[in-house]
Amino acid sequence: MSQFFALIPAAGSGSRMGNELPKQYLPLCDRPMIYHAIKTLSNNRSIAEVFIVLAPDDTHWSQYDWSEFSQKLTVLHCGGATRADSVLNGLTAAQQQGLINPQDWVLVHDAARPCLTSDQLDKLISELASDAVGGLLAVPVADTLKRSNGDNHVKQTESRDNLWQAQTPQMFRYELLTRALQNATNINVTDDASAIEALGLHPKLVPSDAYNFKVTYPQDLALAELIIQKRNHP
Ligand code: CTP
Ligand code: MG
Repeated sequence: MSQFFALIPAAGSGSRMGNELPKQYLPLCDRPMIYHAIKTLSNNRSIAEVFIVLAPDDTHWSQYDWSEFSQKLTVLHCGGATRADSVLNGLTAAQQQGLINPQDWVLVHDAARPCLTSDQLDKLISELASDAVGGLLAVPVADTLKRSNGDNHVKQTESRDNLWQAQTPQMFRYELLTRALQNATNINVTDDASAIEALGLHPKLVPSDAYNFKVTYPQDLALAELIIQKRNHP
């Protein structure tokens, strides 16, 4: 039987956030942001273990109390220069520790998506557990899309037919994902699915919603705070 694992790459610096403290540790409802993703993933009955990939020189993680998750948490200090490097290094470290088998599923989730719900997670797992390739949560594009000519003037309007915004978790089997990321070292992949696509495969898009957005800029933090607060105090 294949097992399900979560892997959270958390070795970024949050340059677009513009704060000295890496984004994943910024306070969100009295917790470091990454806490919220860990909680949702580790609460899921299907998920056997949550791997956290930190930068090798991370000095922040150990300043918090993670004991409520100790049953399911494995911390790996092997983050790399890019998100893809961090994911690949984390997969390799987990395998070297004998924790994961080739056909096990890995759900890769950004530390910066704190508003993931357990319903979205359940849906992803149930829609993909018997899929040949795997897939990701995603949302159909809602806004009208403009392509600029490079100086903030519209060159043309792009059709949004069949366009989706990729989210995480992105769920693939260990062996396929590892092979895809190893193959993709020379291409700029900003998510796991694009490495899979580079092998000529077609990940499944599992409809999600805008609540699972990525906290990237300072104003995103206030929005995430409102969403989580409302959930905690309906
Ligand atoms: N990430 C990582 N290793 C890197 C870069 C990013 O593990 N070398 C992680 C981030 O910590 C985050 C996720 O990948 O959980 C998504 O990345 P992003 O939102 O782009 O975060 P940052 O790279 O930290 O932010 P920025 O791009 O603004 O610098
Ligand atoms: Mg980044």
